[in-house]
Amino acid sequence: MSQPQLRPVKVGLLGIGTVGGGTFTVLQRNQEEIRRRAGRGIEIAMVADLNTERAKELVGNAAQVVADASAVIANPEIDVVVELIGGYGIAKKLVLDAIAAGKHVVTANKALLAVHGTEIFAAARAKGVMVAFEAAVAGGIPIIKALREGLTANQIQWVAGIINGTTNFILSEMRDKGLDFDVVLKEAQRLGYAEADPTFDIEGVDAAHKATIMSAIAFGVPVQFDKAHVEGITKLSATDIKYAEQLGYRIKLLGIARRQNNGIELRTHPTLVPMRRLIANVEGAMNAVMVQGDAVGTTMYYGKGAGSEPTASAVVADLVDIARLIDAAPAARVPYLAFQPDSMSTLPILPIEQVVTAFYLRLRVADKAGVLAKITGILAEQGISIDAVIQREADEVSGEGNQTDLIILTHDTKEGAMNQAVAAMQALPTVLAPIVKLRKEELA
Ligand code: NDP
Ligand code: HSE
Repeated sequence: MSQPQLRPVKVGLLGIGTVGGGTFTVLQRNQEEIRRRAGRGIEIAMVADLNTERAKELVGNAAQVVADASAVIANPEIDVVVELIGGYGIAKKLVLDAIAAGKHVVTANKALLAVHGTEIFAAARAKGVMVAFEAAVAGGIPIIKALREGLTANQIQWVAGIINGTTNFILSEMRDKGLDFDVVLKEAQRLGYAEADPTFDIEGVDAAHKATIMSAIAFGVPVQFDKAHVEGITKLSATDIKYAEQLGYRIKLLGIARRQNNGIELRTHPTLVPMRRLIANVEGAMNAVMVQGDAVGTTMYYGKGAGSEPTASAVVADLVDIARLIDAAPAARVPYLAFQPDSMSTLPILPIEQVVTAFYLRLRVADKAGVLAKITGILAEQGISIDAVIQREADEVSGEGNQTDLIILTHDTKEGAMNQAVAAMQALPTVLAPIVKLRKEELA
């Protein structure tokens, strides 16, 4: 006996730019395959975009196009609102309005969730609606699904990832083609990788948003972007990239969340990673996330982290999940942040001074006797153990022979101790320029 046909799920799309356009195209192209998987059709019935002309060109007669996003939310026929506008402003209001109207929500907006997630998930829970956000972290890679469901047996120990395509693209192109920072950033914008405000990419904010979301799902803590340590790639110099390579390391912008006994490390910064690690060889706009669980060991997820259809792939996967679960009781669904809302952990996010990691230091110093002894003495006073010291020939550095670069790799140490050592070393008259301090992770 054949099953009765379920009515299609009706979707309202807010914003039909890079990701919205991809979502529409993928759903149209693969609709039959998607229907077979979801067990019912998924139809974009309404589209809102400020540029209605451009939207109509893409959508044709397939959906109603409006300029006012609230008209989509007000439509009682719409089951799911897909927010693909971005930012914390109008997007937040629209998401909360959609939830208040009893709509399920899909969003790719990591900024919104990292900052206002607690409020949004509480509102959704009160209304019994789903909020799905696979596209918010690492574009097309199903890392949310992996963390929230696939690895659910594990105590997650750490998560570390290249989770910003724009900066990885910039670092790769600068290194391989010798192109200038600004030229590569423009290309990333042209390809649709960059955020509306590209400083979010290059200053590490976007990666920190994503790391914040992953920390919540990995450890069952609330999203706390305000406590994340954030550094981007704008202060990174070609000299350090070159020295790191000579030492067998590659510098990547990593988002890291790690469980310590007394709290959670949540940090985004340029990081030296051994070149022999797979993740060190992730190039261009590709993303990769490593997850260490107590049962599974280390796993790694790799794929396109940005762009129209790769990100749409994640948005549509969320729509399929919602279509399958739309008639299920809320208690039967996977919790928003993987852990039951009344079982969240109160472990604090640790201040950066308490983070434990290894370091790369570069000191431009006067090339004379006793300099190295003073520097190693200061490190010893702080209990910092040295892994390696390398001196670059003076003429390689200045051509004058009176100064040189000292590169020091340390073993794991608390950042607070390292900061004190750096301040003491910086005060030496023989240290001639600001000391470069980068973190190093073995990811073993
Ligand atoms: P775009 O700027 O390409 O698209 C946003 C669209 O929303 C534009 O068409 C814009 O119109 C429209 N819009 C702006 N304000 C309104 C409004 N009030 N009502 C209706 N429409 C509006 O952004 P993306 O597609 O790149 O990004 C969308 C979201 O996806 C963001 O949260 C982003 O962080 C996230 N994301 C993006 C990825 C990517 O690779 N691009 C990857 C993963 C996530 P107009 O152009 O006229 O302003
Ligand atoms: N701007 C983001 C990036 C888009 O470059 O990774 C994907 O989230």
